[in-house]
Amino acid sequence: MDRPTVCLDDGQIEMFYRTGYLVLPAITTPEEVERLQSVYDHLFATKAGRAQGDHLDLVTTDEDDQTPVLPQILNPSKYAPALVDTQLRANAEAIARQLLGAEAYFAGDHAILKPPHTPASTPWHQDEAYAQPEWDYNYINIWIPLQEATLENGCMQFVPGSHRQEVLPHRPIGNDPRVIGLEVDEPERVAAGAVACPIPAGGATIHHGRTLHYTGPNQSDQPRRAYIMIFETPRKPRATPREFPWLAIQKTKWQERSAAAQGGKA
Ligand code: NI
Repeated sequence: MDRPTVCLDDGQIEMFYRTGYLVLPAITTPEEVERLQSVYDHLFATKAGRAQGDHLDLVTTDEDDQTPVLPQILNPSKYAPALVDTQLRANAEAIARQLLGAEAYFAGDHAILKPPHTPASTPWHQDEAYAQPEWDYNYINIWIPLQEATLENGCMQFVPGSHRQEVLPHRPIGNDPRVIGLEVDEPERVAAGAVACPIPAGGATIHHGRTLHYTGPNQSDQPRRAYIMIFETPRKPRATPREFPWLAIQKTKWQERSAAAQGGKA
């Protein structure tokens, strides 16, 4: 594993706790970005993880013969070991320990590709809305674009301070239970005061599991590649019960494929 080359200062750590997000101009080298770009493109070109239930379309009904609109790969490092031993991972882990403490561990990765001229946004949501309601979580997502991320191609946007709220009511995108992606109810109201965070290739935005975030359509001629690493501290059973009814109503092709891959039924 490479040695970390990035260390947050007190102001950055304080900003993360106050706003629920952080923006870093660089957590890897241009050479590594270039290398990972081709690894990343190969994963999507070969539909890596499709049979295993690790490759899906976030915003459509995700039929096998459909051209994906917003393709996502879960656990891409399982299919591309080149993603494991990187400067990127070493820095992300060091940052996670600074923000969450020494017990923070790598909990998984994923990749979201926005092909050129993708009209779909990734609508406003809190990541914890996808999680299991029985647990209390403390985790961060480190979001790294493998080309510059701009307003034009769908950089991250955050609502400062939104990580201090509980998980808000969500619904499947377009209220269609066949769609795996989630969006918060009343996005216009809850996303007031959003801040867009354009960053260079190989930079990073970091957000807490409850921070409201969004990326816009990709209106550029180039793909928008985002690679995301998740770090968490050990989860604990939740003392106050809560329900995420939006998860209970979902019936997606992705669930069918994952269940089949595990030898069970959807
Ligand atoms: Ni998210």
